[in-house]
Amino acid sequence: MKSTYYVTTPIYYLNADPHIGSAYTTIVADIIARYRRALGYDVFFLTGTDEHGQSVLNAAKVKNVEVQKYCDDMAGRFEKLWKDLDITNNGFIRTTDERHMKTVQYFVETMLRNGDVYKGKYEGWYCVPCESFWPADDLGDDKTCPSCKRPVRWISEDNYFFRLSKYNDALLKLFEDKPEFMQPDFRRNEMLSILKDGLKDLSITRTSFTWGVPLSSDPEHVVYVWIDALINYISAIGYPVDEATFKRWWPADLHLIGKEINRFHSLVWPAMLMSVGLPLPKQIYAHGWLTVNGQKISKSLGNAIDPREFVRVYSNDAVRYYLVRDIQFGRDGDFSEENLIGRINSDLANDLGNLLHRTVVMIEKFASGKIPTRAEATSSDEQLNAIARQTITDYKESMDALRFTHAMESVWEYVRFGNKYIDLTEPWILGKLENGQPQLQTVLYNLADTLRNVAMLISPVMPSTASEILRRLGVNEAFDLNEVAPGRLQPGTAVIHGEPIFPRIDMDKHKRVIGDTSTPLEEENDSRISIEDFTKADLRIGRIEGVEKVKKSKKLLKLIVDLGDLGKRQVVAGIGKTYTPEDLLGKTVVVVVNLVPVKLMGIESEGMVLAASDSENLSLLTSDKDAKPGTRIS
Ligand code: MSP
Repeated sequence: MKSTYYVTTPIYYLNADPHIGSAYTTIVADIIARYRRALGYDVFFLTGTDEHGQSVLNAAKVKNVEVQKYCDDMAGRFEKLWKDLDITNNGFIRTTDERHMKTVQYFVETMLRNGDVYKGKYEGWYCVPCESFWPADDLGDDKTCPSCKRPVRWISEDNYFFRLSKYNDALLKLFEDKPEFMQPDFRRNEMLSILKDGLKDLSITRTSFTWGVPLSSDPEHVVYVWIDALINYISAIGYPVDEATFKRWWPADLHLIGKEINRFHSLVWPAMLMSVGLPLPKQIYAHGWLTVNGQKISKSLGNAIDPREFVRVYSNDAVRYYLVRDIQFGRDGDFSEENLIGRINSDLANDLGNLLHRTVVMIEKFASGKIPTRAEATSSDEQLNAIARQTITDYKESMDALRFTHAMESVWEYVRFGNKYIDLTEPWILGKLENGQPQLQTVLYNLADTLRNVAMLISPVMPSTASEILRRLGVNEAFDLNEVAPGRLQPGTAVIHGEPIFPRIDMDKHKRVIGDTSTPLEEENDSRISIEDFTKADLRIGRIEGVEKVKKSKKLLKLIVDLGDLGKRQVVAGIGKTYTPEDLLGKTVVVVVNLVPVKLMGIESEGMVLAASDSENLSLLTSDKDAKPGTRIS
């Protein structure tokens, strides 16, 4: 029976369309899946979409679309993108799939039963775009998220907590005993240092919104989006209902992730699995982040470009090759359009394209268009074979270790030697010599044989190019990396002439995909804001329950405002000249609840009440129909 290999990508949030940075994880996973298939493994390659949580809910609201409909449309866009990019995923999981949601409920109830979940109050900082809780000490100076640098918001809720701290020692042992569990090493060390500081328990439910998986035993609570999301890796393969399928694939061989989501994958996920008694994945590999032409990828810079744009202009294979050839997997890297064009011209057009073109033309000219049989060796043959063998060994070692750059470097040494071999053996002279035929046949065979090997080796990275090379050599074989060795090519088939596989690009005349992004798309002095900017302000209805004058101040009043689900907040407001405490008690007001708290005359203010004012009059904003405390305003 074939060995199995299970590889996953993170599941993507649906709050934005994918760009080359987000496509990177999936493209690399696809390369790994194709590599394993070509080695003979039975592969399950899973990707999907992460659809619950506040950030997706907000994105749907901004678009004014019902959230499930929004998710259906966006998930469709992701699926279409992967098809267009020739991604060979076998599974596509959506966290709104009923099967997945049932698994989440089952999983969390099992954790509860096992005594690893308890009820408590969560008060602290939350980053909505990252869907992450952060300790105050980790925040940036102006209360920003340490990961994405955007403002965090204060939340206060009754939640269920997972006893993550209980697994601290078991995780430390795992990291120490099995260094391969989390790679690369420098990322593993980051996790080790978090473990050495000690893990805190994790809030795993939310009550302030309902867009999520309700807890079976307490449906007022929805499961925290990260707990929900991580479970996708097992719900997609049948857990807990389809035991045979689950056993076939689990434990996963590889979870491929970006560096910023390592904590959840390397610490939270294994602890969850330990809690329910399931085996752990074999490896988690965290890759770095891409910039585009040296700049962070962002909508406002206009460089969050649909990856299909690059593919349309440069071809899918060239983009894939460039991504793994130039960006060291594991490290941060820059997607530079200039360097991409450089690689196309040098490695693809000049080295590989020329080798194919010269070989086919010479076989047509000197061997009636058919792959000849090897006859008499030349002195360069041994060198070519030695390089072939070395390349095959290096390539396999590097691909197994996810060192794609090295793997491609070694293949290109082989390709370049192929071109050099033509110069060394001078087939055009052999063709003119009376007794040159036997050697000429060998040279031509070796060249075609080299190209067959190269096609097999590059097939995980450049599948269409590999197929085209084989087609032109008249080779009708599936990609099989166990069949790569000098001398495996069958002679006698007719070669096919064609256009250059990678035409050279004129650096000076070529129109770039990425325009000038040195200034943001919006004019700098433009004071307009986008709807996304506006919705960053979390406005809620509040009811004033308590009022006190602030000592030594004529203007300031200290209010206690009931904000429904958000609890009660202390707000200091400069309205004391217009309103007396009696005017205010019981009044419905509008409060900005996600401002960074400030101290006014030594008293902390955790929000701001809105009022219309000019130099003479001040009038508090209120609600026409006395909306309930905590109601959102949009
Ligand atoms: N939904 C979570 C993952 C849950 S997995 C159980 C999430 N989604 S994401 O859409 O924000 O990110 C998906 C992947 O895209 C991550 O691996 C992330 O690292 C990757 N990238 C997004 N932007 C990127 C770059 N600019 N560069 C490289 N990869 C980046 O996190």
